[in-house]
Amino acid sequence: MQDPMLTIKSPGRINLIGEHIDYNGGEVMPAAIDLGILLKLNVNDSNTCNIHSVDYEDTFSIDLEEVVPSEIEWHNYFLGVIYFIQQKLPGSIKGFDCTIESNLPIGSGMSSSAALECGIAKGLDGLFDLGLTNLDIITIARDAEHHFVGTKCGIMDQFAVVNGKKGHFMKLNCQTLEVEYVKADLDPYELLLLNTNVEHSLATSEYNKRRSECEQGLHLINAQGYDFKDVAHIPHSIIDENKHRLPVKTFNRMKFVLEENQRTAMANNALLNNDLQALGWCIYGSHEGLKNLYEVSCEELDFLVDFTRVDDTVLGARMMGGGFGGCTLNIIRKNKKDDFIDQISKAYFKKFKTDLTAYTVKIGDGVRNLK
Ligand code: GLA
Repeated sequence: MQDPMLTIKSPGRINLIGEHIDYNGGEVMPAAIDLGILLKLNVNDSNTCNIHSVDYEDTFSIDLEEVVPSEIEWHNYFLGVIYFIQQKLPGSIKGFDCTIESNLPIGSGMSSSAALECGIAKGLDGLFDLGLTNLDIITIARDAEHHFVGTKCGIMDQFAVVNGKKGHFMKLNCQTLEVEYVKADLDPYELLLLNTNVEHSLATSEYNKRRSECEQGLHLINAQGYDFKDVAHIPHSIIDENKHRLPVKTFNRMKFVLEENQRTAMANNALLNNDLQALGWCIYGSHEGLKNLYEVSCEELDFLVDFTRVDDTVLGARMMGGGFGGCTLNIIRKNKKDDFIDQISKAYFKKFKTDLTAYTVKIGDGVRNLK
């Protein structure tokens, strides 16, 4: 590729707490990280987009007159974003060449998909002077995920990828999209991700199922004469009173949502008061709920979380993201980290015959144009 006109860096994200809460209208605490995807773009004076992925060692082309979903998942990120930009601004995109390269592990729960979608939207905005706002980029990326990739995700990942701020978590209200930046001061601890390196095949279907279970629960409660907009705003007492009307699993899902939303508020206060011990309890509590009530964990994730409970090296650990594989998030004492990684990697390999990958994450800025 000739020298790129535009280079975009688009980060992955972590989520401190507030899992499966974004599509239920509650509060979440994500942050953009320093791992991400680099996109290099050039206009090419044609009607074709040529895309090359260094990591997949794959190249494909898109005819701008015919943007439809593909069988190949990663192609859909481009197709989806182009499709929704064309819907919003017909005729605005011309042919371009794009090369992507990533140091963000795929299927790890660090949201490589949102990083790619937001990166593409930001790149096309810069290349063709589209005048997209951050919210436009977030919405286009989310719509691409819903309609071309097939995950009915919430808004957290895209929001964090676009609006992330170095050194800060974001307390995001997913109903109003109001955000407060909260300093991520964890010293003498830091954030460690442990990637199980498994992604169970039911991740997408079960994710969509959780979403519809929550929608069903909301519908059943509102049928009693209420008008709640989302599960996170239903008082606990109303869900308890209507327990007999709800399928057991639906009741459990809703209970989890209310408890997790409360934990997010507690975790935020703990962070503001520098009470890291309390933050750790919230994080362990989140994992228990995700495992037992929301049922989105798996053996590998539970093993990694349980392993941390032996001493005080880790203040809190939990599965992160959609579930059924991917990473655990750990708040770990810096000076004990190396020994801990060594021990847990050996134990994990012994049990699952799979290597673990450890990432010490730094909180970085959102998607940006490097040139
Ligand atoms: C995935 C989705 C997000 C969010 C998380 C779970 O990452 O893309 O919208 O629902 O799962 O918190």
